[in-house]
Amino acid sequence: MLEEARERTRFLLEGVSKDDLLAQHDPIMSPPIWDYGHIGNYEELWLLKEAHGRELSDRELYDMYDASLHPREERPSLNLLMRDDADVYLDAVRKLVLETLARADLDGDDPLLQDGFVYNMVLQHEAQHNETMLQTFGLMKGRGYRPESLVELPKGSPQRGGMVHVPGGEFVMGTDDRARALDNERDAHPVDLPAFLLDKTPVANAAYAEFVEDGGYENREFWDGRGWEYIKKENIAAPKHWYQPEPHSWWTERFGFDEPLDPNGPVVHVSWYEADAYARWAGKRLPTEAEWEKAASWDPETGTKRLYPWGDEEPRPGDDRANLDQMSFCPAPVGAYPGGASAYGALGMIGDVWEWTASGFHAYPGFEAYPYPEYSEGFFGPDYKVLRGGSWATRPSAIRNTFRNWDYPIRRQLFVGFRCAKDA
Ligand code: AVJ
Ligand code: FE
Repeated sequence: MLEEARERTRFLLEGVSKDDLLAQHDPIMSPPIWDYGHIGNYEELWLLKEAHGRELSDRELYDMYDASLHPREERPSLNLLMRDDADVYLDAVRKLVLETLARADLDGDDPLLQDGFVYNMVLQHEAQHNETMLQTFGLMKGRGYRPESLVELPKGSPQRGGMVHVPGGEFVMGTDDRARALDNERDAHPVDLPAFLLDKTPVANAAYAEFVEDGGYENREFWDGRGWEYIKKENIAAPKHWYQPEPHSWWTERFGFDEPLDPNGPVVHVSWYEADAYARWAGKRLPTEAEWEKAASWDPETGTKRLYPWGDEEPRPGDDRANLDQMSFCPAPVGAYPGGASAYGALGMIGDVWEWTASGFHAYPGFEAYPYPEYSEGFFGPDYKVLRGGSWATRPSAIRNTFRNWDYPIRRQLFVGFRCAKDA
């Protein structure tokens, strides 16, 4: 799995010019070459030093790639490893990682090694940075980014509209898993929710365009106060990358290439504020994080929790469950994966686009920072909003029903859309 993860990272970087690897394409993102070096450095820190007690090869390198020491806007001025030197460094780390893995005791009682936790954490970390780099390529000016798309998306008969009913009652939120889950997903705890309705699919471009054309961005009453200030200050009047060559005809730019907006595609690159405003316009609201997780994971017939909406089986490329794993380079039309339905009949909860929830990012009862507080604990609070479900750019190893992502409510670089909820 580690080898396969590295192949993917290198595939994504292939064809990106030296200049584009080094450039900071947006102040909120790192130069892609920082992500690449950081992937190797994180692996050295966790799989060599922390898991096996080996000294770090280079203290300076370690400081340079420590995300908590250097905010993203500082990263271009660091003395970063260039592509060739980074290749050599990543390979050297990996060689030692495979040697120590062969001797690692994954059945002992060190929680770091037990059931391969730290290896799974590092795998997910590489996958997360793959998605971060793809976000950066989406912001890149100039030549555009277009690797060969290796997965055909289902054209299907997309379903749009409609809501599923989730009866009231208790479900189990979060997990006690210590092999794959990250600290913020624990502990599993009961949550009692009143009945609610949830959109069957994420909001499609056609529906969102109606909101735009209905003056959604001009009407103060739909907007959270801070959101209103933000869109007026930034002159935002449609999702990021949308434009109109002529009235009523929407186009979008994806990775530097122009295309007509697919009315059946999920809306993507909207801030939390835009999602929140749309929901109000539609007479609905965003689901809370608990509502999202119940609708995705709970099986009311058996009273048990599913790892994915459809069950516990891992998603596979080309199956009819979810659009994950990057190789489509695009979301599929909403409702295109009937095999991905949750027990309540919600579609597309995993894959295609991340979904904003109404909730801030808070610790669950029993939370303990593990194995380091900068992963989650440092971000807890109302300033970040929780996103769920992963996108087409998320690798399967880094997504499940309990996985929690977070970002500021103004952010639009993520492959993020949303669906709405309503009290029943
Ligand atoms: C969970 C996606 C918000 O990118 O900041 C990467 C993941 N943590 N390296 C991020 C992460 C450390 C994190 N997110
Ligand atoms: Fe990181």
